[in-house]
Amino acid sequence: MDIVLSGIRPTGHLHLGNYFGALRNFVKIQETHKCYFFIADLHSLTTHPHPADFHNSVRVILSEYLAAGLDPEKCALYVQSDVPEVSELYVLLNMLAYKGEMERTASFKDKVRLQPDNVNTGLLTYPVLMASDILIHRSKYVPVGKDQEQHLEIARLLARRFNHMYGVDVFPEPQAFNFGNDLVKVPGLDGSGKMGKSEGNGVYLYEDDKSITKKVMRAVTDSGPTEPNSPKPEVIENLFTLMRLVSAPDTVAFFEEKWNDCSIRYGDMKKQLAADICATVAPIRERIDAIYNDTDYLHRVTALGCEKARASASATLKLAREAVGFKPF
Ligand code: TRP
Repeated sequence: MDIVLSGIRPTGHLHLGNYFGALRNFVKIQETHKCYFFIADLHSLTTHPHPADFHNSVRVILSEYLAAGLDPEKCALYVQSDVPEVSELYVLLNMLAYKGEMERTASFKDKVRLQPDNVNTGLLTYPVLMASDILIHRSKYVPVGKDQEQHLEIARLLARRFNHMYGVDVFPEPQAFNFGNDLVKVPGLDGSGKMGKSEGNGVYLYEDDKSITKKVMRAVTDSGPTEPNSPKPEVIENLFTLMRLVSAPDTVAFFEEKWNDCSIRYGDMKKQLAADICATVAPIRERIDAIYNDTDYLHRVTALGCEKARASASATLKLAREAVGFKPF
């Protein structure tokens, strides 16, 4: 069975873009692939989260992943820092990563610009830690967005370099996993591009009806169609795209028709969209609450995930240690 791996840094709540983008696909592929999903808390340390809040951020993402349908029995769902083998492989791979290569990484250059007062070397070797995450399970596929493609390229480079340097075939080169047509780009509510965390244009999985409705009612629109059957400008197409994700097909068809005969009233459409987003999110929000407050359950989930991840990771690390020439006396 092909191995798929994905990690997420614990920085706040998941939005509908995460849910309808990757997460729904993760829920599907956990049935057909051997999946490793983890919370990248070590990566988060690069931004110096406050120790008093850090654990809670992990709890939030974990609860939201579970509420969205990840099944800890079917996949390996774990916390990165629970798997020390990742950190040891990171040390080995760091010897094969060159300073110049790391400095040229786009994400590093971005971070230098964003946090000039905290250019720590963990930031510089961020892609090496990510390569360790991937290679520690000898993963074949990694679902990545555009912003992570260069990191995946570095993981491939380090896999090749390790194998070549030590004359072994320990690490397969990981490939980008493509969800094809199943991957929807979820637009934001500001009329421009994707829903994102930093863009502040999102609706969260854990958000109450009132706040969702307020955001949707404020979504950017235009002055309305003037000719029948005209193509939709991006801001309007975005509302329809969101509607196709959460509303019944005949609801979408109803507003399509209204658009086409120029009788559409955006206020009505937004009201409907808000109601359908609330109806989609409400049961998930309830599950998040229940899971978030169930410490025993979260303990069992992470213990099981840790056990599965370490079984796989220690087998790989054994091969890597042998390859570099470590031997017991
Ligand atoms: N760098 C990823 C992000 O910021 C998170 C991540 C860490 C990751 N390790 C990974 C993603 C391994 C995929 C595979 O989104």
